[in-house]
Amino acid sequence: MATPAATGNSVEPCVIVIFGASGDLTHRKLIPSLYELDRQGLLPAGTRVLGVSRTPMTDDQFREKLAPSVRQFSARYETGAWRTFAQRVHYQPGDSAQGDSFGPLARRVHDLAQGAGILKPGGSPNMLFYLSVSPELYEPIIGNIGAAGLVTEGRRWCSINPHDSSWQRIIVEKPFGADLASAASLNRALGRVFEEEAIFRIDHYLGKELVQNIAVMRFANSIFEPLWNRNHVDSVQVTAAETVGVGTRAATYYDTPAGGALRDMVQSHLLQVLALVAIEPPGVFDAAGIMSEKIKLFNTAVIASEGDVPRCAVFGRYGPDAAGGEPAYAGEKGVDPSRRTETFAAIRVEFDNWRWAGVPFYLRSGKKLATKLTEVVVTFRPAPTNMFRKLGVPSAAGRGSLNRIVINIAPSEGISLRMDGKVPGGAAGGLKIASAKLDLDFSKAFGGEQIEAYGPLILDAIKGDRSLYKHRDEVEGAWRICEPFLRHAGLREGIETYSPGSWGPPGSDLMLAREGREWHNPRADELR
Ligand code: BG6
Repeated sequence: MATPAATGNSVEPCVIVIFGASGDLTHRKLIPSLYELDRQGLLPAGTRVLGVSRTPMTDDQFREKLAPSVRQFSARYETGAWRTFAQRVHYQPGDSAQGDSFGPLARRVHDLAQGAGILKPGGSPNMLFYLSVSPELYEPIIGNIGAAGLVTEGRRWCSINPHDSSWQRIIVEKPFGADLASAASLNRALGRVFEEEAIFRIDHYLGKELVQNIAVMRFANSIFEPLWNRNHVDSVQVTAAETVGVGTRAATYYDTPAGGALRDMVQSHLLQVLALVAIEPPGVFDAAGIMSEKIKLFNTAVIASEGDVPRCAVFGRYGPDAAGGEPAYAGEKGVDPSRRTETFAAIRVEFDNWRWAGVPFYLRSGKKLATKLTEVVVTFRPAPTNMFRKLGVPSAAGRGSLNRIVINIAPSEGISLRMDGKVPGGAAGGLKIASAKLDLDFSKAFGGEQIEAYGPLILDAIKGDRSLYKHRDEVEGAWRICEPFLRHAGLREGIETYSPGSWGPPGSDLMLAREGREWHNPRADELR
């Protein structure tokens, strides 16, 4: 996000080594995003991409397999631009779980870098590793990278080459662990090979424009911060709703110990969005500043006790659709119904700090819900007294006017402020108050093309800018918040079924109703 000039990070070419080159993520996101960067002239000249997986293939065969994906998933496909980019893409067959694949891999990286003229003065190239493989391969691959001696940065004390100025970085995909213990183990494995500054734990939500805009909205304007605390804010909601089901991913991911809505969405994406809403202003808006505020925030989270869990969390899974055409989650291919994996999770979190003590943060995410929507809703406390009610004029909301800021992250990007206003009209009809919206639509206000989140994130890693990535303590802090819900057997046993197309199970509404609140469930016509 920050410019190289601002961070002191230079943009040097490198060899990007993608482990898991035949996988879905590589085809749908990584290669199309890299192509886009190249088409826009943003990929440093000389950069090479090396796909690694077990399937035997030549460079040309790999390129041919990638072409349809680039056509389908890139923002703008241009034959000439693809041909140019394809020449930068190479392929190395090999089983990356096996250490003996790494000798040939190291030689290939060196040869490609030499051919591209991007060897650094010490004779090594810069390398960006991308782990786009099944999570059980993460630790073996990291170990193999280390054992092959590919990482020299930060290990200069044992380097025989004092002139080596190359860097090596690694991007790690989610799921980052399946619980606190496995995430901590993965962090230790990474730490044995890479310096923390070289580790890029990716979260594609942090690449979304409006997620980044939360910090800008808060810290570049003076009108929000004075209100952004327990004295004025009643509650905060973060929702990520999807209309799709689990599709074909049940057996490989969603219905495994690393899957389910809490791990898949809440622990990762939603807590990150929440963090940007709730952190203190960093002293300097750079990676270290942002990360340290997020860590401080997570350290103040009130960890739910076993007794708290039933009122602080709800799990659900979708039933069959009304027409009977589509199965319930329990009947999806590859699902073991006895695991009771949740396709919907709602949790309530509090932070015991000066700014937020006593303010509930409600997070929910689910598959097959009413609409595709990601939003943050900050609800303010009602006015201290309602003089209009004393005159017999009803306010728009039952419990008094609730001013709300809604930050729309998807499908459209915008910020709106819900407030009460006087309905225009003469005295004959009497004073009427209704709720209305002040609306800022980012694409209308600022224009610009929508960019797939992965491209800018990868570019940040090439620059060495971690502001949109996660520190090891953040990841572990987020797991710590989720642990009580994962461990509570009753929560999973009591999993509720909800109808596809609804807003989730009744228990989710009840969780808020018990505290006199309700979810913000926009109608389709309220969405942009
Ligand atoms: C991924 C999850 O990280 O995010 C998926 O694994 C989910 O289950 C996806 O569908 C949602 O992303 P987005 O950008 O469409 O909200």
